[in-house]
Amino acid sequence: MLCSVLPLLLSLSPAFLVLLQLPAYTSTQEGHWEDYEYGHQDSEKKPFCSWKCLVLTLQWPAGFCQSLDKEDICHIPQSVNSWTIHGLWPFRAYGCCNCWPMFRSDIQELEAELTEHWPSLLKKNSSFHFWREEWRKHGACAACEEGLNSPLRYFQLSLKLRGQFNIQQLLEDAGITPSCDRRYKVVEVQQVLAPHLGDRHVIQCVTDDKDRNVWFQVKIPLSRNLTVGCDHHGDAERDPEPVSGPGPTASPAHPCPPQVPFYYFPIDHQQPRRPCG
Ligand SMILES: *[C@@H]1O[C@H](CO)[C@@H](O)[C@H](O)[C@H]1NC(C)=O
Ligand SMILES: *[C@@H]1O[C@H](CO)[C@@H](O)[C@H](O)[C@H]1NC(C)=O
Repeated sequence: MLCSVLPLLLSLSPAFLVLLQLPAYTSTQEGHWEDYEYGHQDSEKKPFCSWKCLVLTLQWPAGFCQSLDKEDICHIPQSVNSWTIHGLWPFRAYGCCNCWPMFRSDIQELEAELTEHWPSLLKKNSSFHFWREEWRKHGACAACEEGLNSPLRYFQLSLKLRGQFNIQQLLEDAGITPSCDRRYKVVEVQQVLAPHLGDRHVIQCVTDDKDRNVWFQVKIPLSRNLTVGCDHHGDAERDPEPVSGPGPTASPAHPCPPQVPFYYFPIDHQQPRRPCG
């Protein structure tokens, strides 16, 4: 709210300002100006744009479908055969606002790539809805950083980062492939990924309806300068799953338990929620 009001106020004529000085407004005006001057932007007085870490969250489509409580709401498009983006989230970002709407034309040139690498896996939701939600909840909060300062830049960078962490290839090279039978231990997967994603990446599972741990996501902490890892972080694990997600999940993501091997199910486009019959 504030971020749209203040620049407006600055451009108003003094006469108009007088009109605006309603009692309720006057009482908080000083605080607002102070916020503006010192770059504060919300009632908690957290400095605006003070976030230090980003979390890139990639999801395995077959695992995503396992997280849903209904059979028929998951959809994995034919073109999707790999890890996809769930989101790029500034961690503990304050002072975000809904004042930066995003339109299809903003990201037109990326649409084909986004459709492949950042699809909505919910039958009822268009991918654009998913992107717009992610921009609203996370992208707009990251936009105080130059390299992320528009929907186009935000989605461009997310795609670039996803390409940089080709986890499917890394896993495949290490013999870790999707399977209905084989199970993997957290430690063996982490050993493969840590040199590329840093020591603090988090492997997340969901519990399926047979009470099995099924691999769902990887969270990759990044510093604001986009180097892997983040000193200020330690939090990817504690970070509550943003409600935005790609949709209504029945089973919340949790770190895969180290002592219980988990499944890495194959993608089945025909039966996304029953890849193994
Ligand atoms: C998916 O669609 C539902 C119903 O239209 C909506 O409430 C929800 O916010 C959508 N989710 C996303 C991530 O777009
Ligand atoms: C990136 O930021 C981290 C943490 O703030 C810092 O340790 C590192 O030296 C920076 N790297 C570069 C290339 O600037």
